[in-house]
Amino acid sequence: MRGGKLFVIMPSEKDFTFIMKRRNGVSKIYSCGTLQAENVGEEVTLRGWVNRRRDLGGLIFIDLRDRSGLTQVIFDPQISEEGHATASKVRSEYVLKISGTVRKRPEGTENSNLATGQIEVAVTSIEVLNTAKPLPFEINDRVEVDEMVRLKYRYLDLRRPRMQNNIILRHRIVKYMRDYLDERGFLEIETPIMIKSTPEGARDYLVPSRVHPGEFYALPQSPQQLKQLLMVSGMEKYFQVARCFRDEDLRSDRQPEFTQLDIEMSFIEQEDILQLTEGLYIGLVEKIVANRKLKQKPFPRFTFEESMAKFGNDKPDLRFDLFLTEISDLVKDSEFKVFSGAIAAGGQVKGLSLPGCANYTRRELDGLVEFVKQFGAKGMAWLALDKNERGEFTSKSPSGKFFTPEQLEVIASRFEPAAKPGDLLVFVADQPAVVANALGRLRNEMGRRLNLLNPDELAFAWILDFPLLEWKPEEKRWDAVHHPFTAPKPEDMHLLDTAPGAVRADCYDIVCNGYEVGSGSIRIHRRDIQSKIFSLLSYSEEEAQARFGHLLNAFEYGAPPHGGIAPGVDRTVMILAGEESIREVIAFPKTQSATDEMTQAPSPVDEKQLRELGIALIPQNKG
Ligand code: AMO
Ligand code: AMP
Repeated sequence: MRGGKLFVIMPSEKDFTFIMKRRNGVSKIYSCGTLQAENVGEEVTLRGWVNRRRDLGGLIFIDLRDRSGLTQVIFDPQISEEGHATASKVRSEYVLKISGTVRKRPEGTENSNLATGQIEVAVTSIEVLNTAKPLPFEINDRVEVDEMVRLKYRYLDLRRPRMQNNIILRHRIVKYMRDYLDERGFLEIETPIMIKSTPEGARDYLVPSRVHPGEFYALPQSPQQLKQLLMVSGMEKYFQVARCFRDEDLRSDRQPEFTQLDIEMSFIEQEDILQLTEGLYIGLVEKIVANRKLKQKPFPRFTFEESMAKFGNDKPDLRFDLFLTEISDLVKDSEFKVFSGAIAAGGQVKGLSLPGCANYTRRELDGLVEFVKQFGAKGMAWLALDKNERGEFTSKSPSGKFFTPEQLEVIASRFEPAAKPGDLLVFVADQPAVVANALGRLRNEMGRRLNLLNPDELAFAWILDFPLLEWKPEEKRWDAVHHPFTAPKPEDMHLLDTAPGAVRADCYDIVCNGYEVGSGSIRIHRRDIQSKIFSLLSYSEEEAQARFGHLLNAFEYGAPPHGGIAPGVDRTVMILAGEESIREVIAFPKTQSATDEMTQAPSPVDEKQLRELGIALIPQNKG
């Protein structure tokens, strides 16, 4: 179920010493994960769930569990006949309160895998606080359970140690974020959930108004415009652990509602936001998880263009060195028409050097060809590098015959590090966007297959200088790459009229291990420039005023220069936890099809509610 190793949260006094200060008449109340050899002889009370019960005839052993861990408690009829009789009736997940004496486990029965493995509690009294029906699945991390079942019984799923750890980690991370920003003078300010649409490129979730029939609030895709308005208000440094809502296609790293650490600052430059955010992530990794290591700090920086060229995407996994390498200049006149033809048609030829893969079978090679075809490539050519007895490069592959040993050597040395005999070179020839997508995906796939990824390593980086606008051919208009409030780079401003596609933005993404973790930009703070961008995005004056009038108006009352960023909290916790889906770090997530299996939302509503809202349903064909 889990990809990497279990993460270890740095110990904190609060988490691991749950000893309650109050005294309960005779015995101290402890948590189930805290008792140690030094407690031997103490009278204690524990409360928790029956994790496991073993009835050995004479003695009954129960592992009692709470959030902090497990303690083995023993029911001996010679100590309490009544207690033993009660224990013989309890079942898994019953809720118990027990009192007894801490004693050392007999020689040879200690359990070094358990924090409390040196001791056990000999029970003198037991109270059954509640019973439990047989569970739909066992409460442990060893059994695989279908995710739909887990989500339906999420309250039970959350009892599992792994999920409890994830939720504790999330708490720690968010607390660290809050403290980090508080120490630097930021104010946490809440912004409304029922607002007017703030576009971030997805569909809005709408909330109908009863008081104004036919009118709707939108749930925020992010607090973007509100945080900018707070800068106009003079708040200067804002943050919010903000819930965002987006109706978009879901993936393992996307939920319809999710949480951002939303940040905005006035009177700053891009560099200030990068330093602030980088410091935050370095602190999170170094102070909160003990067994995850930063690959590099300060974080490396790539322009969007460099990232696309080297990795084929804008969220590179930098844990391994495998780089897309261009050989167009070397093969533009080649007899191999697949290569020279693609270049003549305005395309390019790029490749990857797969270390030690020259002996791939035909079947394995066909598999790779099919893989890149899924992502738009027309095919994939390969050269399996070898050396002959004269020490010359050779290649056994259909396209190998088009290249002399010298040419093979020049191609091999183009790679970084240089390809050697035994390596497999694979190439895609096409338009740059197709080459990047196909080889970028293949790069990630081979990183996994060749075990080049260290799951304990966190390779953060910054991607900078994104284009401001992208052309939407279907709609025949420009669209904002980040969002419409992002500022063009001052030095590219003159291109807005003549070459909008060439304008770069003061926009930055923080990425880690192949995920975009956060994204931000310096904003437009002048009305004339904001109006100009809206018009490039094909909003008429009236439309811009109707949708964004509040912001445009505010810019006329002394708006300070400002900018910000919004790291995704769910993705941050997922990556630090080593999980592969953000669903594992959200207490009550939605499924891939945006449903809540536990409460069965969304669900039909009463006719009466609809009538009050002035809403009539159009019958849907649920084919
Ligand atoms: P953006 O849309 O890039 O920027 O989002 C910022 C970060 O939020 C997280 N994220 C998500 N996490 C889970 N599920 C989703 N559906 C989802 N969508 C986004 C990602 C992403 O990097 N207002 C701007 C930020 C700014 O400019 O300050 C914004 O929302 O981690
Ligand atoms: P073909 O000429 O289509 O028989 O292809 C010859 C070899 O080139 C085969 O191994 C194809 O998989 C490969 N190939 C075809 N198209 C491309 C392309 N666009 N880029 C890289 N290799 C290709």
